[in-house]
Amino acid sequence: MMAEAIDKAVQVEKLCQKAQPCIACDLHLRRTNVVFGEGNPLSPLVIVGEGPGENEDKTGRPFVGRAGVLLDECLRECGMLRKHVYITNVVRCRAADPDETGRMKNRPPTSQESATCINLWLEPTLAVIQPLVILCLGAPSANAIIHKGFKMMQERGTFFPTKYGRYAIAGLHPAYILRQQGEAFDSARASLVADIETARKKVIEAKKEPPATLF
Ligand code: URA
Repeated sequence: MMAEAIDKAVQVEKLCQKAQPCIACDLHLRRTNVVFGEGNPLSPLVIVGEGPGENEDKTGRPFVGRAGVLLDECLRECGMLRKHVYITNVVRCRAADPDETGRMKNRPPTSQESATCINLWLEPTLAVIQPLVILCLGAPSANAIIHKGFKMMQERGTFFPTKYGRYAIAGLHPAYILRQQGEAFDSARASLVADIETARKKVIEAKKEPPATLF
């Protein structure tokens, strides 16, 4: 068991090192750092966001900007810290283009960029970690992990079986929550806390289930 755990951590680290020089899509042209993921690769709970923004690109760490601070707060309200989960994204390099003034502006990754990064890095990472529960933050992550055309407002907070982990659930992206004001902000934030708590409880339940295969 112990050897298995060490092996998982080593394999995720190897993938991370292998991803550093990745030039599989054009996102590499403007990136400062590859943002592979962080936290505990032995955790049964993996959180998948959309992709790095400016702060993440600068530091090489996922969710370190304002959205990350909010995510940390919500995790803490459910009794968890980053070291209790593994955090990664659909894409590992910042998707951004210069605006008219030359300032870099974030944009959603294209379906091609997402598919490339999922095949090369997200899928292999999840195959090593084998999470019991994946929490997708935002529709792009839910579209990639749960199903295409995911309807966040109707489908968030419920579990879906997935090939990437035993169960997946989606919640509002912290960056979306930060764009809300007043009561809308409070209720969006509360919904993320509730979805994290639902995911945490599902991990406890899933640990009691028999393994999917006998051998
Ligand atoms: N938003 C994301 O989806 N991921 C990050 O790592 C940071 C912001």
